[in-house]
Amino acid sequence: MKVYDVRDSRFTVYGRIIEGYDFSGVIALMKKKPIPGPVEYVASAPELEALPVFKEFENRFYGQLGAELGYCMGHNDSLNGLEYHRGSEINIAATDYIVMVGKLQDLEPGMRYDTRKVEAFYVKEGMAVEFYATTLHYCACHVQEGGYAHATFLPKETNLPLDPGFVPVTEEDRLLTAKNKWLIAHPEGGEDPEVPALLYGPNWTVADLEI
Ligand SMILES: [Fe+2]
Repeated sequence: MKVYDVRDSRFTVYGRIIEGYDFSGVIALMKKKPIPGPVEYVASAPELEALPVFKEFENRFYGQLGAELGYCMGHNDSLNGLEYHRGSEINIAATDYIVMVGKLQDLEPGMRYDTRKVEAFYVKEGMAVEFYATTLHYCACHVQEGGYAHATFLPKETNLPLDPGFVPVTEEDRLLTAKNKWLIAHPEGGEDPEVPALLYGPNWTVADLEI
């Protein structure tokens, strides 16, 4: 699979580059964090949310809705699953990374999805990238030996544990694995067996990509 620059026009259906905010403080704090071996995700990081740009972003970008600012970092080289949220996710890159994305509109009956429709994009350190609510995505892939790291804005409480007693009704409900997180696993992705493994086609790895 070819990897496109995230600034390529092919990305415009999935999201856009965000400008007009000073994320230098976010990136500086992210760069101080040691990158672990496995992937580590924190939904809400108080030290990041204490930066003035957090309130500014909530106020302007999210139009005064509540947001959270956390991070994701580590080492990952495969697709493993695809998730989506109600609302945009914005990732601020503290290292280069590759992201594999798809379109919610390509989900088939039964919430199945053919991973041959996935496209890969290269994001450079310092870029803030918005992923629209209709964009399927999951963990980034590292491109440097040291791993990848990015901060992440999402609507407030996204990815926190579900309230107890949630009862799925529809097929989509079965994908809800955390608050505002609908996840479809790949059978070879090593996800929790509770998560419906409805992706079919290759479980792409970085080795499959032409960078
Ligand atoms: Fe996400």
